[in-house]
Amino acid sequence: MPTTKSDFRLFLDSVRSGVDHALEHALSPTVLVAVPANLQEPMAYALLGNGKRVRPALCLLAADAHGGDANAAMPAALACEMIHAYSLIHDDLPCMDDDNLRRGRPTVHVKYTEATAVLAGDALQTLAFQTLASQDNANLVAAQVQTLATAAGAAGMVGGQQLDMDAEGKAPDLEAILQLHGAKTGALLRASLYLGAIAAGADPLIWRGYAESVGRLFQITDDIIDATSTTAELGKTAGKDSSAGKATVVAALGLEGARALAASEVQAALAALDEIGPSRRYDELADLPRFLGTRST
Ligand code: IPE
Ligand code: IPE
Ligand code: MG
Ligand code: MG
Ligand code: MG
Repeated sequence: MPTTKSDFRLFLDSVRSGVDHALEHALSPTVLVAVPANLQEPMAYALLGNGKRVRPALCLLAADAHGGDANAAMPAALACEMIHAYSLIHDDLPCMDDDNLRRGRPTVHVKYTEATAVLAGDALQTLAFQTLASQDNANLVAAQVQTLATAAGAAGMVGGQQLDMDAEGKAPDLEAILQLHGAKTGALLRASLYLGAIAAGADPLIWRGYAESVGRLFQITDDIIDATSTTAELGKTAGKDSSAGKATVVAALGLEGARALAASEVQAALAALDEIGPSRRYDELADLPRFLGTRST
């Protein structure tokens, strides 16, 4: 029987407890023995904050759907969350989105310093690849590093962030917005599924259609909730996109149009999931786009 939306929140919470335990271990002082204390603290602050852990969940679900062992996919799940945490630190910097609130707390550059925020982001990014590289299977490491580096780098998330900056203050163009969303946000979400499949020894491209829809859907909803939720609900400053002149689907289509696009993307994700076929994680994988299409935080 399919789980309900609130069950999916519970599922994310259950992912968080296992993932956070492993993240805490990855950042424990005994592991980071040579890391300056003034860098350890902001790294932990950013990585262990109260996020939804959607990327680790995608990674673990894909691995499990192929019958893989959750432990085998855990380094990849951690690496995806490390890249995500780094991307948020840099996204919030004064030279980027200039945000002072994230996950209900001061952003890293506000809590510490701007220089420390840049360095904590750099450190989490390299820690992600160190985490992947510490696995025994050299072929698996090569495939995961290649996939994550491509997704996080200049043709993926970083390139998308450049497009996001370039589009600020310009007339919204839906095609261009969907392309920049696919890069700045979609690339890492897609890679999270791909890394999970690779961990289970499966072909990651089986996930392509589902991954592309989930990636698009995630940022469409992020744009909608920026315009409709409160700062208290979001844990980040609401209404920021319109005041900053961001290229969003809400700017391009209005709220109703953006909601209709999200609804069609939920259907596209479910259709793509059906093409993948039955799996022991079908219910959660089907609930995920529904959750992403209706979430308010
Ligand atoms: C926010 O991502 C940044 C985007 C890519 C839109 P999330 O909404 O997954 O942030 P957390 O991890 O739950 O805080
Ligand atoms: C951020 O998109 C995408 C990243 C690569 C971090 P946003 O700028 O819309 O994310 P929020 O709204 O600040 O979380
Ligand atoms: Mg941004
Ligand atoms: Mg931002
Ligand atoms: Mg946003």
